[in-house]
Parts: sequence; structure tokens; C-alpha cells
Amino acid sequence: MNTYKIALLAGDGIGPEVMKQAVKVLKAVEARNPEVAFELNEALFGAVAYFETGKSFPAETIAICDEADAILKGTIGLNHEDSKKIPVDEQPERGALLPLRRRYNTYANFRPVYLPQELAHFSPLKPEVIGEGIDLMIIRELVGGLYFGEKEVGKDDNGKRYVREVLEYDEDQIRDILKVGFETAQRRKKVLHNIHKSNVLKSSVLWNEILEEVAVDYPDVEVKHILVDAAATYLCLNPGQFDVMVMENMFGDILSDQGGGILGSLGLMPSACVGPEKSYYEPSHGSAPDIAGKNIANPYSMIGSVALMLEMSFGMEQEAKNLWHAMKSVFANGYGTPDLAKGEDAKLIDTDAFGDMVVDELNKAPRV
Ligand code: NAD
Ligand code: IPM
Ligand code: MN
Repeated sequence: MNTYKIALLAGDGIGPEVMKQAVKVLKAVEARNPEVAFELNEALFGAVAYFETGKSFPAETIAICDEADAILKGTIGLNHEDSKKIPVDEQPERGALLPLRRRYNTYANFRPVYLPQELAHFSPLKPEVIGEGIDLMIIRELVGGLYFGEKEVGKDDNGKRYVREVLEYDEDQIRDILKVGFETAQRRKKVLHNIHKSNVLKSSVLWNEILEEVAVDYPDVEVKHILVDAAATYLCLNPGQFDVMVMENMFGDILSDQGGGILGSLGLMPSACVGPEKSYYEPSHGSAPDIAGKNIANPYSMIGSVALMLEMSFGMEQEAKNLWHAMKSVFANGYGTPDLAKGEDAKLIDTDAFGDMVVDELNKAPRV
């Protein structure tokens, strides 16, 4: 029997609603796999934790995460006005999410942008642009760059306010994420798109220098260089040209949300945040305060993150495939949550119904 301890950090906004579906799915997977048991440990994280304990990543939660084999996170964050109720450094992004990433050094963030035929009608792109479908992998460096550099807010001698935020990387950080890019490209189509801004940023100049050193070890991978601003355009005009795209933290934040845009919703963007010893899994989207509490959020990003966890942390490749297939079947049957299902033919379902249908579809797959 393999017992896996999973820390569940539901978080804020739609986090608990989508996490509920993830738990349903995990219980179904457990029932289908007699050799596997999940020990699910819920812990407070985000604004909800701050209001209850004064800390958005409390010591008890840290202990549960330290003990876990993998961490499943929902979403954190408040809307613009409400976030002012929390001191800047305890706000869930700075006080919980970035410390989580740093604690487990989850430097490799995989954000698949995947639009198979079953989902193609959700995309705002024209069918001729989508072609056979979209299937690319954004690999985002997650623990460096502007996010983690030195920050200073102050006033100069004349009382004028200023801010300084440093974009910092050392060569090891760059090499590590580039290796992940090359290795992923090797497993896929052997093409790596390097996204950078070396026409302005010195950080990109160093990044590209190191890329040339790393590339020597991967002679079978073809590297294509694209400036980040142009990459944003190509993602809309010809996403099919991309397979694996590697980039620094901030570029990856922005382009991966654009990935959600070309798919048709941020509700279609799961992710894996991989560290040397521990990984955590989360939707790429936020807490969606505008729709929270209504049971209408799309739980695909969350359940897709479960599929990534099954595959990447627990070696359950076949069951992960079954889960992707189950989710695609729900869409192929014409259903969709309101972010997707627009127009007369749409069969609208809510968050809970989507979770239930995924479980039903999963149970149609032969047991592993
Ligand atoms: P957001 O991703 O929460 O929402 C942007 C838009 O996408 C909204 O209209 C929302 O309704 C929609 N959306 C997002 N996920 C959806 C889903 N699963 N189903 C249907 N619609 C969905 O981004 P935002 O509004 O800019 O940020 C809200 C809060 O979330 C902020 O506090 C931000 O810091 C936080 N945030 C957290 C994470 C995280 O937990 N990893 C990621 C991004 C943003
Ligand atoms: C994401 C989010 C986070 C980020 C925020 C909430 C700190 O936007 O995971 O994409 O910018 O990394
Ligand atoms: Mn983001």
C-alpha cells in the first residue's frame, strides 16, 4: 500500500469551491486504486488564515506542508479594496504564496496551455488559427527575478517618494530552469522556445549566455529565440508554432495568463510547481472574487492540477491520463461552466456538477 500525505490549502475566494471538487476526485481515485491511500490534511492559508491567526502562512500550516508528500493549493487573495484590510507584508501573495514557493524552492513552474478538439469551441481564436488544437508548455522560473529581489520604498532628500525593486538571478538559478526546459523539450517535440528581452535587460543577456552553455548538452534540441513582447503576439496569431517555452518569473506570470486567454478561460489553466524535494500544485488563476461563493467557478484548473500531482509526484501516469480524459469527456458531452459555455447550445453546469460528472466519467475508465 502506498500512502501519500497531501496538504490541502483551499485558501480564499473560489479556492474552497474548487478544492471541494479536487477532494471528490481524490476520493474517487483512491476508491479505484486499492494500492493507494491519500491522507488529506487541511490547513489554513491565505487571507482566511490571516483573519483567523494573524498570519497568512501560519506555523501549523507550515508544519503540515513540511510533513506532506505533496501540497495541493486552491487560490488566495482578496479584491483590491478588501486586501487593504491586511498589512502589505501579510497580504496572502507576499505573506503566504511567495514564502511557500521559497520554502520548498519550487523553481520549475509547468503551466500547460492545452486545447484539444473537445475544448476548441471555447477558444476566442478562429478555427483556422487553432488548427489541430493547441498543446504547449510554459515553463516559468518561479523563485527568482523581480519577485524575490531586494525591495526598497523610501523618500529622497527632497521628500519625493521612490521605489526600487531588483531583478536578480544567479547563474545556477538560470541553469536549473533552462535544464528543465531542455529536458521537457527532449521528451516532447525537441524544440525549445527561449523567451527573453535581451535587447534591454542584462538579466536576459546572462540568461542567453547560460542557455548557450547548457544547450551543448542537448544537441538534439533546436532552440528558437523570441523576444517576450513578440511572443505575446505570436501566442494569439499562431500558437501552433510553440511547444515548450521557457522564461523568467514575471514573463511567465503574464504569458501564462495570456495562455488562459487563448484557451477561453483562466479556468482551463492547471499548474505544477516543482522543487528538488517537494512540489505543490495549484490553478494558475486567482481567487476570482467576482464569482466567489456562487458555485459557478470552473474547477478544471484545480482538477487538472490534481492530475499533474498524480503524474509528477505519485507516478500514477495512467490514472492521470484517465482523469484528463474524464474532464475532456464532460466537455465533449456539451457541458461547461458559465465562463465557457456561452451561446444557445451551451449546457450550463455549476462547479459541483462538473466535479460529479468528472467522477462519473473517471469511473467509466478501466481500473488501473
Ligand atoms: P483571477 O484569476 O482571480 O480572475 C480573473 C478573471 O478570471 C475573473 O473574471 C475571474 O472570475 C475569472 N476566473 C478565474 N478563475 C476562474 C475559474 N476557475 N472559473 C471561472 N472564472 C475564473 O485574477 P484577479 O481578479 O486579477 O485576482 C484576484 C485575486 O487573486 C488577487 O488577490 C490576486 O492576487 C489573486 N491571485 C492568486 C493566485 C494564486 O492563488 N495562485 C493567482 C492569481 C491571482
Ligand atoms: C500566479 C499569481 C501569483 C504570481 C501572485 C498571486 C503572487 O499571479 O501564480 O500566477 O504572480 O506568481
Ligand atoms: Mn499570475
